[in-house]
This record gives sequence, C-alpha cells and structure tokens, in this order.
Amino acid sequence: MEIVHVSAECYPMAKSGGLGDVVGALPKYQTQAKHYAKVVMPMYRTKYLYQNQWQVDAKGTVTMGELFFEYTVIKDPTVKLGFDLYLVDIPGLLDREQIYGYDDDTERFTAFQIAVLDWINQWQHLPDVVHCHDHHTGLVPFMMKHSYAFQKLSKVPTVFTIHNAQYQGWMGWNKSNYLPAWDSWKGGLLEWAGTINPLAAGIKAAWKVTTVSWSYLEELRNAANGLEALFEYEKGKCVGILNGIDADVWNPAEDSFIHQKYSLATVKKGKKANKDKLCEQFGLPKNLPLFVFIGRLVGEKAADILPDALGRALYYYKNQCSILVLGSGDKQVELELQQVAAANTNHMNCYIGYNEALSHQIYAGADFLLMPSRVEPCGLNQLYAMAYGTVPVVRNTGGLRDTVKDMGDAGGWGIRFNNATADDLLHAMYRGIDLYQNHATQLQNMRATMMQINHSWENCVNEYLTMYENL
Ligand code: ADP
Ligand code: GLC
Repeated sequence: MEIVHVSAECYPMAKSGGLGDVVGALPKYQTQAKHYAKVVMPMYRTKYLYQNQWQVDAKGTVTMGELFFEYTVIKDPTVKLGFDLYLVDIPGLLDREQIYGYDDDTERFTAFQIAVLDWINQWQHLPDVVHCHDHHTGLVPFMMKHSYAFQKLSKVPTVFTIHNAQYQGWMGWNKSNYLPAWDSWKGGLLEWAGTINPLAAGIKAAWKVTTVSWSYLEELRNAANGLEALFEYEKGKCVGILNGIDADVWNPAEDSFIHQKYSLATVKKGKKANKDKLCEQFGLPKNLPLFVFIGRLVGEKAADILPDALGRALYYYKNQCSILVLGSGDKQVELELQQVAAANTNHMNCYIGYNEALSHQIYAGADFLLMPSRVEPCGLNQLYAMAYGTVPVVRNTGGLRDTVKDMGDAGGWGIRFNNATADDLLHAMYRGIDLYQNHATQLQNMRATMMQINHSWENCVNEYLTMYENL
C-alpha cells in the first residue's frame, strides 16, 4: 500500500512533543513491513532543514479566499529516515522557525492542507490511504470528499488520528471561503458550536478515526473539550491503537546521547554512571533518589501543581530526595519552579527550555519520572522511562493507565495515583523514596520487568495496516 501521512510535526525535522516522535517512527515501521509510507509536512526553518540536501519535487499555486500563494514541495532524496519525507514551502506563511504559536496559524495550516491536496491531485496515480494527524490536518478528509477541485481524490480512504483533542483549530465562518469551493449542503460537517472546527470536521469526514490509547478513547466521551457528544455519536468508527516507541532512537544500549550505554544485564552500573554524570552537571547529590519531570509546562500535564508539590517534597522529605525538571511552557510555572529550585540549590535544579540530548541523559540517569498529567492521550515519556529502567510515577489516566502497572499489584513496575493534586503526587513520591531506601531488590526487579516490556512499533504497526486494508 502507498500511505501518505500528513502532519504538522515529524522528528527529526520538527518536533514539539509526542506527535513528532510518532510521525517520525510509524512510517518507518510501515516501510519496514514492505509498504510505501511517506510523510508530508510544512517546511519550517529548522536546523534539520539547513543541515540536509533537498530536491524540488513539485510546484503549484493555490488561492485561499482573496489570498493567493505559491508553494513548492521538496523531498529528501536519501532514504536515511527510513521513509520518504516531503516538505511544503509556502513563503510568507510556513517559513518560520517555530511550528506553532503565530497569529496566522489558521491561514498557515489551511494553506498547507490545500497545497498538500493540490500536490496529490497532480499525481498520475492515487495513494491507497491518506492518514492525517491532529487538527492541523483535520480539513483534509472533508476537502477530499467535498471540494470540487479534489473530486479525483474523493474515493481515497482517509484515517484521522487524534493525538490531542484539547486543541481543535477553531476558525470563524468568515474564513469558510478559504476552502476550495465545496458542496454547500455539506457545511454541517465543518461546524461545531457555531464555528468551523477542524478537529470535529476530521472526525466527521474521515473514513476511520483513531486515538493513541484505548482509555483515552473512552475518556473522550466524557471529556473532550466540547466534543463529547460527537465522540459518543461517532463511536462506531473510532478505535484506540496504542503508540509504540522507536527502538532505533530510544534504546539505552545504543543511545549515543547518553554518557554510558547500558542494557538489562548492566542496568545497575549503567544507571549509576549516568546518574552521577547528571548530578555533577546539575549540582545534585548522587546518593539520593532522583525524581525528574520532562515535558511541556502546561495545564494538561498538571505542571501547575509541580511548584507546590516539589517544594513540599523537599521540605517534608528533607535530604531524602533530589529533583530535576526539564521543560518549558507557562511562564508563571517556569518562574515558580525556578524559585523553588533557588530555595533548594543543592537538591533541585531546572532546565527551562527544550533539549533533546539532555532528555535522553535524564531518562537514563533518573530513578523516578513524574507524570501527574490531567490529560494524557498516550504519553511517550513513561514508555521511554520504562525502556531506560526508570520507574514511572503516573496519574491514573489515558495512556498512562494503559501502560503502567502499579508496584502494589503482582508483577507491577510503576507507581500510580488518582488525582492531579500536590497531595497525591507527594504521597506517590513518598512511596518512591521508601522503595529506593528500603526495598532495593524490589526496585531492581521492577527495572528488569519494565525493560523487558516490548513497546516497539513493530507490535502496533500491524493494527494500522489491517485497518487500511479493510478500508
Ligand atoms: P506530549 O506530546 O503531550 O508533549 P508525549 O509524552 O507524547 O507528550 O511526548 C513528549 C515528547 O517530547 C517526548 O519525546 C519528550 O521526551 C519530549 N519533550 C518534552 N519536553 C521536552 C523538553 N523540554 N526537552 C526535550 N524533550 C522534551
Ligand atoms: C499528544 C499527547 C500525548 C501522545 C502524543 C503522541 O501530544 O499529548 O499523550 O503521546 O500526542 O501520540
């Protein structure tokens, strides 16, 4: 099958979170399974763009209401990523350093989606499936079915994967003329609560909808930022498929980002060497259990409870633990975390910003990874932590519920708690400290158990392939 993934992110070209990781890995494993998977994404001005050679694949023009733009599709001529990567350049709209966060994001991503379809429309053949990811690509299934210009594509199956339903890409009806002329009887498919809602449009118009874990799909029927009724209504075409991890990138035995590589056989020594290095770098004691947080400092991740919870942990469990935070996001949370770190210089440190290499070293060197998330569609951090023998401390929600078993249950290897509150997180940290101080053998066994769990994409890729085949 020929599969076209359409996405706003793809590692290593551009990543702001797990979406980038997934779109950078799934096509590689689909290609390894003898299919032809390609990714098309915007050509942002990232480091990866400048470090690599590209060749022009196609050019075209698109009108969007009163706006007119030219686009160029370029291609990585090598096969180094394990799949074909295409970038869409639209000068004036997509040529920015950041992925999101601009006032004209609506125009940027609408133009991107139209250009992608205009490009596919030029091909001599049709792909077997177009697989869209999140709201930035949610208008694609609608336009393929109902825009006259893309009639040729109306029989091509579409899959829409929801990595995050919090963001929906809302746009006013005054922008409906951006989309190439469409069958006006179908306007209801674009609409939700008085606005054009690209996420809702994707759910309604795609042939099949997937979420990145089973529990998240169930939760969406009760909490989906306004779309609960839609998820209930469309449940027949929705299915949960758990994410995998890319073992070529996330494997402590081969990870060149980390200070000392290690495997299951050498985990104790290997983690110690990595922890010592990390503690030296961040001025932390080497002999205490090290708790870390890696991620976007936003409400979904419950980052707002961290300053209070971590400050209290360092007070109540004085000289019994140390803490390292890597992340960026909400400015108030960044400031508060830095204040707590400044008040506890020898036991806590923060790196405010994004640092891919450091994240690997932290998964390798930490003892416990904190994820108090309010919403977690799948979560990759806990899967990476497990592959590196780091105990995940997670709230009972979404993909965290589906992938972490509490150490209190037979054969469990993680710590789970119910509420995204400082009190619950503190109690969970207490269980971690007790484990580290008093149950070294159990900790060692838990590491062995989690490191042997196979979360590789090889397992889940077939679920997608079977779904495409059925379509
Ligand atoms: P989300 O996509 O909601 O942010 P995931 O758990 O799916 O959450 O994926 C987060 C990804 O982003 C992981 O690869 C994680 O290591 C990475 N990440 C998040 N914040 C940072 C950061 N500040 N520096 C480096 N990597 C980060
Ligand atoms: C989203 C979710 C995260 C998930 C990732 C990849 O960003 O917040 O839970 O792991 O997408 O699917």
